[in-house]
Amino acid sequence: MLPKEQNELLTRTGLDTPMGQLLRRYWIPALLSEEIPEPDCPPVQVRMLGEELVAFRDSKGCIGLLDEHCAHRGTSLYYGRNEECGLRCIYHGWKYDVEGNVLDTPAEPLESDFKKKIRQPAYPTREVAGIVFAYLGPEDRMPLFPNYEWTQVPPSQTYVTKCFQECNYLQGLEGECDSSHLSFLHRTFKAQGHRALYMQDTAPAYEIEETDFGLRLVAIRGAGPDKNYVRVSSFVLPVAGCVPAGATTREIDGFEIHMYVPIDDTHSWRYDLGFKRSRPVREEEVHRRRQIGPDYRKIRNSRNHYLQDREMQKAANFTGIEDYLNHDSCVTESMGPIYDRSKEHLGVSDKAVIALRKYLLATVKAFQEGVEPPHLVTDPAKNSFPHIDSIAEVVPSGHWSQYFKHLTKTAPLA
Ligand code: FES
Ligand SMILES: [Fe+2]
Repeated sequence: MLPKEQNELLTRTGLDTPMGQLLRRYWIPALLSEEIPEPDCPPVQVRMLGEELVAFRDSKGCIGLLDEHCAHRGTSLYYGRNEECGLRCIYHGWKYDVEGNVLDTPAEPLESDFKKKIRQPAYPTREVAGIVFAYLGPEDRMPLFPNYEWTQVPPSQTYVTKCFQECNYLQGLEGECDSSHLSFLHRTFKAQGHRALYMQDTAPAYEIEETDFGLRLVAIRGAGPDKNYVRVSSFVLPVAGCVPAGATTREIDGFEIHMYVPIDDTHSWRYDLGFKRSRPVREEEVHRRRQIGPDYRKIRNSRNHYLQDREMQKAANFTGIEDYLNHDSCVTESMGPIYDRSKEHLGVSDKAVIALRKYLLATVKAFQEGVEPPHLVTDPAKNSFPHIDSIAEVVPSGHWSQYFKHLTKTAPLA
């Protein structure tokens, strides 16, 4: 259980909160590339960390992420005209470029230099693997974008989805670090391959390591005489859970990165990014896409009880609900918008969740005392992360680390 004040510290992410300030020091997903598919396309509203923003792609393809409300008198720039390398407000025609410079104030006298004195708040962006990442922190502290393994593979080998979550970001993130739930929530009665392995042993042993990127979470299940089924997941600062995805070792070939970005304190975006190391992604592998509507809302959601089918629950799977995405959403959203963790009863199976909270609490408290947050990349020579990996494999008994030598706690020296 978590005392109320610690729960508040971890779950509140507005501009004036410690966690909100901490999250703003990292690059985090703001929207998908497909939402602004081409130059001069319609702008979109972006909601993150309690801020109201608007994103647009200008005539040259550059992305702007601006405060949604016009610097003149606050009209929403979402309704604006995206034309000739700038976004123009429809109220009095003020026009902004991607950096927030005021290009034009046509309602002012010609000789006015008013526009030079004003700037629309704008945030830097990076477009990587189908996601537009943004940095919402202080300008002089902007870190490099991390060269994760998934940034290095061709676009055909990555896939990404996003969906709306009706709860605080931390509930989703905790689920990513909780290997225990695989044996129940995602159980199907005729499971094969890896799925059968994590259903056989429902009470795995856990080992957790603190690393330079966050936490490595290892769940070890028995897999027959002298064999273990080892699942390695990672919490990567600030909001990513990396998990192995697939039913066979061959299918896994990479991993998925699930990122939970607060919209406000009671809603979040879940971004699922996956990559294959050795081959293009097949469309049918992105099964979760079929669960998400064009507005990025889940088709199965709390209002229709996730279309739970009680016959399916008897005969086919543990939940009676289709797809892992909906399983996860049902259990985390049904806790309520911000779960009061002072009411819970944690067991041994919650070791990884406890470790995540302790780590986040220690990080945010140190940050409040002026310590620079961990895993901010500032040195181009140290921008490589071969030790971030997520694995699911059957290995001979003995300590798991001997089989995965690249899983070091700090990045290997270049
Ligand atoms: S409110 Fe936007 S130009 Fe006047
Ligand atoms: Fe899950």
